Amino acid sequence: MRTFTPLRKIAALAVTGMFALSVSACGASGSPADSGSASEQLTVGFVAVGPEGGWRTANEENIKEAFKNADIELKYAPATNGDQNSQITAFTSFVDEGVDAIVLSATEATGWESSLKKAQEAEIPVVLLDRGIEPNDESLYTSLIAPDNVGISTAAAEWANKQFPDGGNYVVLEGPPGLSVVNDRNKGWDATVESSLKKVGSQSANWSTEEAKSVFETMLKSNNNDIQLVFAQNDEMGLGAVQAVEEAGLTPGKDVKIITIDGTKNALTALAEGKLSFVAEYNPLFGEDAVNVVKKAVAGESVEKNIVVKSVTFDSPEAAKAALPDRKY
Ligand code: AHR
Repeated sequence: MRTFTPLRKIAALAVTGMFALSVSACGASGSPADSGSASEQLTVGFVAVGPEGGWRTANEENIKEAFKNADIELKYAPATNGDQNSQITAFTSFVDEGVDAIVLSATEATGWESSLKKAQEAEIPVVLLDRGIEPNDESLYTSLIAPDNVGISTAAAEWANKQFPDGGNYVVLEGPPGLSVVNDRNKGWDATVESSLKKVGSQSANWSTEEAKSVFETMLKSNNNDIQLVFAQNDEMGLGAVQAVEEAGLTPGKDVKIITIDGTKNALTALAEGKLSFVAEYNPLFGEDAVNVVKKAVAGESVEKNIVVKSVTFDSPEAAKAALPDRKY
């Protein structure tokens, strides 16, 4: 297990005046005093992706738990079937409602300017979680909290270069086109992978195991099985590639090495079994960071524009076996 990204650059938690006020408003018995301390509770709108896979579930549950533990009301608004319009509708409703802050995990990178400007005019801080916006106009949001996608895919390519000093053929199984995380994962990989490793295919499999199995089956057939490496941009797609390799009568980890990103238990189990070869964590557990940033933003304190969540990589069955007992997702 190797740590490669910059240490977590999280600003220290500043206990906001609002937070202290809500605590002091409680009576001696600890119950809310008559002074309407409940009205002091912050309300935050969470414009979320919704059900998407293991990583997303872990991330959204961690965010919900962190805001609950902070006694902040979090209004959860998952997208309808990943549709950005449903997110924009929820975002607008939160602005009209006058929430204290909005946290946003976007299903699309583009198309957010007018919504973000509406929140800005209403003086409602917006914190981006996991997903950035494009064009990346930093003036339109308070902060972006995410692991380093470019750094993660750079580490994956560095591992691939070492595994294939004499080169080989590879394919990329991408997330949905246009997402900031997909663009950044391509960016780090493309800038680092050696030219002796030849890309013979790349296609979106929309984070899906079933779709990735089908896509990679076709890639194997059209390349007469002459593919030695898969860069799968999330765990579910990498596990789909494992199924395709086995159905082709090949051995994953031997005939075809598969890289994935996320670091869920399913992926680390497959790495421990030798079916995956490299797993880069994309740490989803940053709910407390989101709470800290929201509290500071609502209190009018300055926060860092980009908060990089520490992630690690796993490059062997032994590393996976050592990590699995303590994994939280
Ligand atoms: O934005 C993060 C990506 O979204 C994860 O890598 C993937 O599993 C999720 O669906």
